Amino acid sequence: MTAPLTIALSKGRIFKETLPLLAAAGIVPADDPETSRKLILDTDQTDVKLVIIRATDVPTYVQYGAADLGIAGKDVLLEHGGEGLYEPLDLRIARCRLMVAGRPEHPPRLRRPRIATKFANTTRRYFADQGRQVEVIKLYGSMELAPLVGLADYIVDVVDTGNTLKANGLAPLEHIADISSRLIVNKAAMKMKHTRIKAIMARMAAAVGD
Ligand code: ATP
Ligand code: PRP
Repeated sequence: MTAPLTIALSKGRIFKETLPLLAAAGIVPADDPETSRKLILDTDQTDVKLVIIRATDVPTYVQYGAADLGIAGKDVLLEHGGEGLYEPLDLRIARCRLMVAGRPEHPPRLRRPRIATKFANTTRRYFADQGRQVEVIKLYGSMELAPLVGLADYIVDVVDTGNTLKANGLAPLEHIADISSRLIVNKAAMKMKHTRIKAIMARMAAAVGD
């Protein structure tokens, strides 16, 4: 019997947009994570399992080899740092931009603006690289609220249509990075399960037009 191959995925947007790519690689999940309470999903291939976890946890599972493969947004990968991972394929799904946003025409604290974000490492790096002094406040969601209630001067978050910013009286101000989801691979698994992983990579690459 071959060792199982485990793929880490998050529910919602990434799962939905990954389904056609998995199908192209010949992998069809046996359950729908939106309705099932299972955290390990079987697939039509007995030696391929999916683990369903929070988007921000995907690189950690792959880094430590708890999953061989994973699919994660570049925003999450920048924040994680990428240790122990290969990032061989841009899947071109879940596309958005990582941006600094704030209240237009609202004077910030002059000396050391406060930035609320769940991307604390990336934000510190972005401002430090420019020699700008900021105080980063780590949040876990609903960043758009922070400037409205005086918690922060700016936020760093992903923006797609801009509707969420607009609905909260905020505007995009600075572009940090273009974001899309990437296939990630555990470094040891890439060696040990090379043939099977290469086959999945090739079929997914063909499906995304690479
Ligand atoms: P969690 O729910 O665990 O906090 P999350 O809300 O970031 O995580 P999703 O909303 O499913 O999880 O987002 C997954 C990925 O999709 C993000 O890491 C980002 O790369 C991308 N993404 C997030 N929001 C959008 C959006 N509005 N449009 C396109 N892509 C997005
Ligand atoms: C994401 C993100 C922004 C929003 C941006 O939230 O956190 O709030 O999308 O998209 P927009 O520019 O098209 O409005 P999501 O809808 O994933 O909800 P979440 O808070 O569960 O992440």
